[in-house]
Amino acid sequence: MSNEALEPDPNIFSDEAYDSDGSQSTCSVSSSIFNGLIENGRSVPSDELQFETYEAGYHILDVGTGQGTWAIEVADKFPSGETDSAVVSSQWQFLLSLSLAIVRGVDLYPPPATWVPPNCILEIDDISRDWTWKDPFDLIHIRIFEGAFTLDEYRGFYKQCFQNTRPGGWIEQLEIQPIFCSQNDSLPEDSSPKEWSRSVFDAAARSGRPMELYENCVPMIEEAGFVETHVHETKWPIGAWPKDPMRREAGLINLQHWQSGLEGYSMHLLTNYGVPTPWSWEEVMAFVAKLRNDLANDHHQIYHFAKRVWARKPSSDEKAVKPSMPVDETKSSDSEGSVTADCP
Ligand SMILES: C[S@@+](CC[C@H](N)C(=O)[O-])C[C@H]1O[C@@H](n2cnc3c(N)ncnc32)[C@H](O)[C@@H]1O
Repeated sequence: MSNEALEPDPNIFSDEAYDSDGSQSTCSVSSSIFNGLIENGRSVPSDELQFETYEAGYHILDVGTGQGTWAIEVADKFPSGETDSAVVSSQWQFLLSLSLAIVRGVDLYPPPATWVPPNCILEIDDISRDWTWKDPFDLIHIRIFEGAFTLDEYRGFYKQCFQNTRPGGWIEQLEIQPIFCSQNDSLPEDSSPKEWSRSVFDAAARSGRPMELYENCVPMIEEAGFVETHVHETKWPIGAWPKDPMRREAGLINLQHWQSGLEGYSMHLLTNYGVPTPWSWEEVMAFVAKLRNDLANDHHQIYHFAKRVWARKPSSDEKAVKPSMPVDETKSSDSEGSVTADCP
């Protein structure tokens, strides 16, 4: 685990320089942050080199696409050939064959998008059932899929990913660990960020879908048969506390992500499986309001871990390789409370 400390901005301790009420989150965010992390002169991992294999009509699947943001952005990045827009509707199939990439996004629920690029297809389906796509994918992408399945269901899911990837194709997954930590250890155990992580982990365990994906996605990907696994784990700051400008901007975006997403992440789990008894709607709303405020307090230097994993399906002449990391069976999905929300 990459537990290297992020350098905090010394000015966060000056009341003139920083508000602790989250008003910093209204700062504008420069485009540099959307260009991704640059490492060894290339963005990690989805730069042009990484994507060159998807050219010439390659087939990409975004699992659990949600609003379809990733699928739409990738389809836009690798668009159809230059074509008169009048031709689009009448020659759909022809246009698809011209596309640099065809991106499918699949989710249980219809996405809110009213327009998608012609080379993007958003579908409604349950990915836990047998997949019916005919052609194998060059890339299967997954982003934030924690809490969707039990460990056994995830195993079946990765097997289907493997079966539906062409030899030499890739799987890529981004997961976040929903455990709020304080880099300067200033968050008391009874603070709302700590309590939220514990409550959500407990509720997820009671629901039968414990929060085990973050630890186990790499071994499960390898167990399914993928090789050449790359893991890039980083601390994602929440708020404007890091000194480094790019990390500060990332922190502001992350704060915004959590502030808008907390209600959705919490409501179902806590009102159905909350400990000691399911919480009321009002209790969840009051808790989330306090948590939004506490997360925006830069004095606590709050962060969580995030992991990007990418691995390749061997070509047909490569030998199968044994997984390097076994799935952690001690965190059994049916033993309530076995997964803890502890910080390192
Ligand atoms: C946390 S959201 C992530 C959305 C998107 N990947 C993103 O990063 O913005 C997880 C998504 O997985 C979808 N999902 C969960 N179980 C699924 C299943 N069995 N089949 C298809 N989609 C599923 C949910 O509906 C939800 O939209």
